[in-house]
Amino acid sequence: MLQQTFPRTADGFDDMGIQTDIHSGDSRECLARIADHSVDLIVTSPPYADQRKNIYGGIRPEEYVQWFLPISEQLLRVLKPTGTFILNIKEKVVAGERSTYVMELILAMRRQGWLWTEEFIWHKKNCYPGKWPNRFRDAWERLLQFNKSRKFHMYQEAVMVPMGDWANSRLKNLSETDKIRDNSKVGSGFGKNISNWLTRDKAYPTNVLLLATECGNKEHSAAFPEALPEWFIKLFTQENDTVLDPFMGSGTTLLVAQRMRRNSIGIDIAPAYCDMVRRQLCPVERDLFAMEETGKECAL
Ligand SMILES: C[S@@+](CC[C@H](N)C(=O)[O-])C[C@H]1O[C@@H](n2cnc3c(N)ncnc32)[C@H](O)[C@@H]1O
Repeated sequence: MLQQTFPRTADGFDDMGIQTDIHSGDSRECLARIADHSVDLIVTSPPYADQRKNIYGGIRPEEYVQWFLPISEQLLRVLKPTGTFILNIKEKVVAGERSTYVMELILAMRRQGWLWTEEFIWHKKNCYPGKWPNRFRDAWERLLQFNKSRKFHMYQEAVMVPMGDWANSRLKNLSETDKIRDNSKVGSGFGKNISNWLTRDKAYPTNVLLLATECGNKEHSAAFPEALPEWFIKLFTQENDTVLDPFMGSGTTLLVAQRMRRNSIGIDIAPAYCDMVRRQLCPVERDLFAMEETGKECAL
């Protein structure tokens, strides 16, 4: 396994100490090298069951949970108690039915000690065109949120969205009860005062992310749109925190994390992807510097 550390600047020493580490190898082994409770956010998209077999093997749906559990066990160990794990996954249709392995995985991870806190939906603005006799185009994927504890770091203000038309259309027709506190009719103690929002120009977002799939010049068939890791990095981390992607691919999570001044760690089993990410993240001077220092190829 080759591990590489890239200080952010070409002179080799980042004044803020931001680090980007790339591990070339199998996550089942590489994760063991990461310290306990050292990661603030994990954002990843592992190979889905039975997909892209020619590219990276393909795991059968009935074996998926057993394949993933040793990895999620390591992720549970390396994540800080205040950290969050975002898992992008989607079951495909097999013999006319949706496979159930993602649901089985959620249950197995709960038994392993994870809390299944939330499910975000990635609504793909540009999903594949097509027509099927028994279903419509698949336009969304799961973004499952897992935590170790109910008290995790969440910076909601960082992802607020402009009020836009909602403020103009909905709020101009406020009813009398909307203008005063509208206490819950069922006595739950909850209530709303919509008029509070009149003077605000930003609102909290929903748990649906409307993003186009990546169709730029990425050299990876399943790359994240950059806005996806960016949104979760904003929501769950601050500068100098550490972000991990154990199925790094083209390194979108690392590229965005580095730009946002977060430390990051990426792992991929395909050496070609690791080389590609190194080329993108590592200035030429760093390669030469590391080779001179160590006498071998950027090894630590
Ligand atoms: C869906 S892609 C990730 C794409 C990534 N989110 C991006 O933006 O490019 C999954 C990646 O997992 C890698 N992979 C598959 N099995 C692995 C394993 N056991 N350990 C580490 N990486 C693995 C594949 O090489 C592939 O690049």
